[in-house]
Amino acid sequence: MNAISKITPARGSEERSVPREAVLTSATDPRGVITFAGSDFCDIAEYSADQLLNAPHKIVRHDDMPKGVFYLMWDTLKAGKPICAYVKNRTANDNYYWVLANVTLTENGYISARIHPETKYFDLAKSLYEEMLAMESGGKSPEDSANWLLTQLQEKGIPNIETFSALLLDSEFKNRGIVTPQNEAIFALMDEITGLVTDMQKLAKNIETGFKRVRGEPVNLRILAGRLEGAGAALGTISQNYDAMAQEMYELLGRLYGEDTGALADMFKALSHGRSAQQFAQLLGEAIAHENDSPTEGSQIDVLINQHARLEAVCEQRIREISVAGKSIPDICRSLRRRINGLDVVKLLCKVESGRMREVDSGLDGIIERLQAFHDNTDTSLAELSAKASQIQQKMSAF
Ligand SMILES: Cc1cc2nc3c(=O)[nH]c(=O)nc-3n(C[C@H](O)[C@H](O)[C@H](O)COP(=O)(O)O)c2cc1C
Repeated sequence: MNAISKITPARGSEERSVPREAVLTSATDPRGVITFAGSDFCDIAEYSADQLLNAPHKIVRHDDMPKGVFYLMWDTLKAGKPICAYVKNRTANDNYYWVLANVTLTENGYISARIHPETKYFDLAKSLYEEMLAMESGGKSPEDSANWLLTQLQEKGIPNIETFSALLLDSEFKNRGIVTPQNEAIFALMDEITGLVTDMQKLAKNIETGFKRVRGEPVNLRILAGRLEGAGAALGTISQNYDAMAQEMYELLGRLYGEDTGALADMFKALSHGRSAQQFAQLLGEAIAHENDSPTEGSQIDVLINQHARLEAVCEQRIREISVAGKSIPDICRSLRRRINGLDVVKLLCKVESGRMREVDSGLDGIIERLQAFHDNTDTSLAELSAKASQIQQKMSAF
């Protein structure tokens, strides 16, 4: 039995619901001509595989879908990236159904695995699609309406279509609640690592905030130096040392916490890609099992099998990348700690100067206190960061 119970399809404009366990697969050549149609897809689409094979994929297109969505789909695929989008499709009997369609590149075209949609993102997409349709019927081009969609996502804090695709797949996949026993451990590992990397990001942010707070101290020292004239000459030199060290710290912090290139960002990216690849692989694995249970006539499931293997390999590769990025973190933490100790020398020099100027209100005591607080806070955060990084390595090596 495939995943869909045999019910007599309704005729005309009725919604066909997609069962949770169904995975609707199809593959195309590079131009979008169908080369494979899985049994769940044929059942819901109310077509035979023969009718779908060699047809352009737009055969299932529904007029309620904005052109901008397909513009974005092709634009993303042609850039070599996978995409997820909610899609309303028309069936052969003029009924319709909604799915979350996940599309990736294969060796010689594309493949899609579609599942039942249900989360809050589905409602969000439907309301955005209504506006896109209105814009398009008012004369906006597909490109314009696609760009409008991207702007809407950015306003909601979703920076690009890749992030949105991963979010959609992850939330619908989790909501669907089907995880094969082989995948349980890997998804649990990824969730644990995501938790640890999120904690590490908070710690790094904490260091950065503290750092920004004491970043202005060299200026304060220079102002003091000016005020104290000859007596303050040493403060000018101290402030220069401080500046140089702070700059080095900033660069190190960037290696850890940089938005695009830092080790933590690399880990998040690898986690997100790896998770999406494994989720897609699981859907294909389920589709393969459905095909084996109820093969479609003349069906060539090689495309499912090959892509399943490819995606599992992508996931393994991403796990290796997480490990590599994780290994660089204790080193960065050690270097940061050395710079903090360097700042301690500055603090000591300030103390000496403050002692020498006991009779003047130099303002140095305030600077010393702020440096001390920064030092203590950063030391604690760095120790926690290193501990979390080794926890990640332990979990990876135990896997
Ligand atoms: C692997 C793959 C799967 C696709 N699945 C669908 C689909 O389920 N529904 C759909 O309307 N278009 C799908 N498309 C996009 C169609 O090729 C086409 O761009 C779309 O229907 C819009 O048609 P139009 O450009 O003629 O307006 C898919 C494309 C690919 C490469």
